[in-house]
Amino acid sequence: MDKIYINNDWNFWQEGFNEDTTKVRLPHTVKELPFHYFDELEYQMVCFYEREIKIPYEWEGKRIFITVDGAAHSAELFVNGRKIAEHHCGYTAFKTELTKHILFGADNRITIKVDSREQQNIPPFGYVVDYMTYGGIYRDVYLEVKEQDYIEDVFVRTDIDNKELKYHVKCRGDEEINSKLYLKSYLVDGESTTELTSKELTSGDLTSGDLASGDLASGEFGGNDIHQDGFEIVNHIDDFKLWSIDDPKLYTLRCDLIRDDKVIDVYEVRFGFRKAEFKKDGFYLNNKKVRIRGLNRHQSYPYVGYAMPESMQKLDADILKNELGCNAVRTSHYPQSHYFIDRCDEIGLLVFMEIPGWQHIGDEDWKKQAIENEREMILQYRNHTSIIIWGVRINESQDDDEFYTRTNDLAHNLDDYRQTGGVRAHKKSSLLEDVYTYNDFVHSGKNQGCEPKSKVTSDLNKPYLITEYNGHMYPTKAFDWEEHRVEQALRHANVLDAVAGEDDISGSFGWCMFDYNTHKDFGSGDRICYHGVMDMFRNDKLAALIYGCEQEKEPILELSSSMDIGEHPGSNRGATYILTNADSVRMYKNDIFIKEYSSVNSTYKNLKHGPILIDDFIGDQIMKNENFTKKQAEIITRGLNYTATHGYNHYPIDIIWSFVKCLTIYRMKATDAIRLYNKYIGDWGGQSTVYRFEAIKDGKVVKTLIKEPMHQMHIETKVSHTTLTEKNSYDVAEIRIKVVDENNNQMHFYNDPVTVQVNGPLELIGPDILPVRGGMTGVYLKTTGLTGKALITIGNRQLGSTSCEINIQ
Ligand code: GAL
Repeated sequence: MDKIYINNDWNFWQEGFNEDTTKVRLPHTVKELPFHYFDELEYQMVCFYEREIKIPYEWEGKRIFITVDGAAHSAELFVNGRKIAEHHCGYTAFKTELTKHILFGADNRITIKVDSREQQNIPPFGYVVDYMTYGGIYRDVYLEVKEQDYIEDVFVRTDIDNKELKYHVKCRGDEEINSKLYLKSYLVDGESTTELTSKELTSGDLTSGDLASGDLASGEFGGNDIHQDGFEIVNHIDDFKLWSIDDPKLYTLRCDLIRDDKVIDVYEVRFGFRKAEFKKDGFYLNNKKVRIRGLNRHQSYPYVGYAMPESMQKLDADILKNELGCNAVRTSHYPQSHYFIDRCDEIGLLVFMEIPGWQHIGDEDWKKQAIENEREMILQYRNHTSIIIWGVRINESQDDDEFYTRTNDLAHNLDDYRQTGGVRAHKKSSLLEDVYTYNDFVHSGKNQGCEPKSKVTSDLNKPYLITEYNGHMYPTKAFDWEEHRVEQALRHANVLDAVAGEDDISGSFGWCMFDYNTHKDFGSGDRICYHGVMDMFRNDKLAALIYGCEQEKEPILELSSSMDIGEHPGSNRGATYILTNADSVRMYKNDIFIKEYSSVNSTYKNLKHGPILIDDFIGDQIMKNENFTKKQAEIITRGLNYTATHGYNHYPIDIIWSFVKCLTIYRMKATDAIRLYNKYIGDWGGQSTVYRFEAIKDGKVVKTLIKEPMHQMHIETKVSHTTLTEKNSYDVAEIRIKVVDENNNQMHFYNDPVTVQVNGPLELIGPDILPVRGGMTGVYLKTTGLTGKALITIGNRQLGSTSCEINIQ
């Protein structure tokens, strides 16, 4: 029988407010919060979730289990008033057998007490933490109904070199086997099913005893060694397609448990055939070298913290892969939703997953809990093909050889298929892991993009991976002035380029995908760390396009500047870059062709599509229009172009020399230079220019960009999905909102509010008046249990309104 989700109809109340219960659905946050400027104390509390569950008579004689996928941060589970389990990690699931505690043919009361206070002696708590640790049952809760004998776990691995499919099967049941018990396995590929193995089970193959007995904390997921219980099956598979980043082919392994010719349990694992290996000279997927290019992701959202359902979790994976062109993500700093990781499996996004924690290591009890968290993480997530490495250190903690020997041993015992890393901010630290994983914040704008491997790792023969860069080195708001936003983008390009130039660095993860709410000790004072390449709604900042340009599916064409000179000190625009993934870009000024650029013009030699500096605003115009010799025209064009990008000060000696030549030999006057500058570069007091850019791919114009002063604005929306489905719980759609001009250029300083109106069965998350921040904002809409159509209208008097229709089924 499939999972029976029990996400609806929970009564929720805080300690001391018993009569004041509200009906809630999971995922749930204990407190909806403002966008920013709030106190982390607001979500810290002890609260209760309670609901009745009808257990039918027909289930008598079977075994019933409950799984709570995520309760932050400690939970106690009561059945009909009696406590049967507790769990102390907000980022992993716990599963408990209910069979002996429930009444069949009756309503049973399930109560979950959740403690979201931060004073608990468990990771990540104990000192300060740079992210909010929101409370609540914020993932699914479900029941499973099994026979007395059932399949408890199947752990799948592949050996592509030897064409082997290996899986470790753990069955639980009565060791007295009275009738024949078989395990049959099948390889399922779409419609086709191939039988692999039929194995008769003997009593030694079964694990006996009740689930969770004597092990309240870890429930079913106890056990230190994959080979401790159960049995291993190895099948030779002749013909299979590999799972890769570009073609993430997935199969299903199905195991049937059969008694007296009757299938009594089915266990399915979705997996891909792949080999992931960090070597001393880089990362290899299926024996081919791949440079990891990823970003760090927190699992947080505006207003609701961690509590977002399946579709929103999956959207982040899609954004990382399709919009940001990443091939990897680090789930900083804890295991994240299975929905998110499922999507990574489906779309070929590699995952670095790590144990919960941030810089601080606590006492022995705290460490025991950290080990428990690690055990749960690995046992619960190890069937995800996309996960290529376990992070088994507390992020950026000090060396602790005794502790980290334990975490490494545990990871290797539970999973012989993946290497370990452990994220540190120290060079040459004690290396107990398979891969030296390091947060390299050396780049500060003008210097090197990253450290060479030899400067960082303590063992050159081991692999090396950069797990963070940038972030706090240059916080950037979507509404910062242009130079600032451009600098953030260039810093990301600088690091990516530097890493790509180091052959023995496996790759890197930038800090980070989007801005996030954080504790009082961090961020910009409004409880936000503006470290993202996107804002909290997952709208692009310019830096996002540095990543986006590395994907090939969607054409990208953008300019680092709005071309408004008044935004810059002394009206000097400074360096302007083209960001594109096209083959080339043609630039026109007032419809006159100036120059065609391609990636060879980029100084970022290690990136396929690095930013391209515009070094010519004149083309052959001076030559054509003015009465100069070729030589004169060249000198003047060079001088003016230099002034356009660098300003009037600090000319290099060769430019000064050519100016002197113009004044002396060619007898030009200073006023001539000013006239030419005004005419060809455009200046203060002159008419602004219209710039047009055309991106060319395979000989065709695939995108056009026009930069000229705005005349009219409107709202542009990007809806995550327009058909919402009430499945295991409610569904949420996100509408990303941008204010743009008639040429679709974002209005970076538009900060006025827009209103959102919802007509139909959808509920708004957060306020209905939205401040636009840096020309962008977003809105989340949640289903209510009703089906039908909803019309969402967003706008204000100046911008007019835009509507979209959402179907709810
Ligand atoms: C790192 C840390 C991250 C985040 C980042 C900001 O030190 O691991 O969680 O705080 O700095 O740049």
